[in-house]
Amino acid sequence: MSAPALEIAAVSRRYGAVQALDGVSLEVAPGEVVALMGANGSGKSTLNKVVAGLLRPDHGRVAIGGHDVVEQGPEARLRLGYMPEFPFLYKHLSAWEHLRFVAGLRGLPGEAALEQGRRLLEVLDLAAEASRPVRGYSQGMSRKVALAMALLGHPELTLLDEPTNGLDPPSIRLVREIVLGLKARGRAVLVSTHVADFAARCADRIAVLSRGRLVAAGTLEELRATAALPGAPLEEVYFALVPAPTREVGAALDGG
Ligand SMILES: Nc1ncnc2c1ncn2[C@@H]1O[C@H](COP(=O)(O)OP(=O)(O)OP(=O)(O)O)[C@@H](O)[C@H]1O
Ligand SMILES: [Mg+2]
Repeated sequence: MSAPALEIAAVSRRYGAVQALDGVSLEVAPGEVVALMGANGSGKSTLNKVVAGLLRPDHGRVAIGGHDVVEQGPEARLRLGYMPEFPFLYKHLSAWEHLRFVAGLRGLPGEAALEQGRRLLEVLDLAAEASRPVRGYSQGMSRKVALAMALLGHPELTLLDEPTNGLDPPSIRLVREIVLGLKARGRAVLVSTHVADFAARCADRIAVLSRGRLVAAGTLEELRATAALPGAPLEEVYFALVPAPTREVGAALDGG
């Protein structure tokens, strides 16, 4: 068996009094897609930031392609593409300039990176606008620039933090195709999503976080067995694993 593309071992991280991650362990193999699900505030983006080396774990260890993200940060990050939940773009730069910037940062060979950049902008439907400053882009267009930046240079591991947020239906389908295309090329993907249909269609395994703890990780079949819901759709299985409180909505609308 090949070494994991991503190894997360007993990672904990706290923000002041908030224990955002509590002993999370998870591996992603080359050619494997793992979907990360969990309620708002359950720790998904914190886990992404720890993997990307933006936050240090308080305990535990993360390695990308065998390189520790703290001890061997540059080697680890060279193997990583990361689309954050709230991508940061330079408003005065165009999509094209963002890709050239990423190519330079990652030391990608010039012509090949530029050629891939052109193809990414084409497939993401940004080619016509690619030379305009991103300050004039819609929200969805900006997110697609961030996606292209994460894919440039064929990283071994791609982290996508809610990549379909704010995208139109054809673009959501495109993100699905991209994730499956990465898998077909032997790359590893960890994708956070709230959309059960997206996870069920793309992921080999689904990892479920609840209040910073990994409460389940496995294939849909394995999660169905854990939840004792044979044949159930992922959404139903998810609700069994992470029970949501029922709320009296009417009182909030009428009260006061
Ligand atoms: N910079 C921060 N400072 C303090 N607390 C934070 C910070 N970022 C996140 N938290 C807390 O850590 C916990 C996990 O947050 P995180 O953003 O990782 O959740 P998430 O699963 O990505 O949620 P969502 O689905 O809303 O994106 C939450 O309780 C949140 O309030
Ligand atoms: Mg998040």
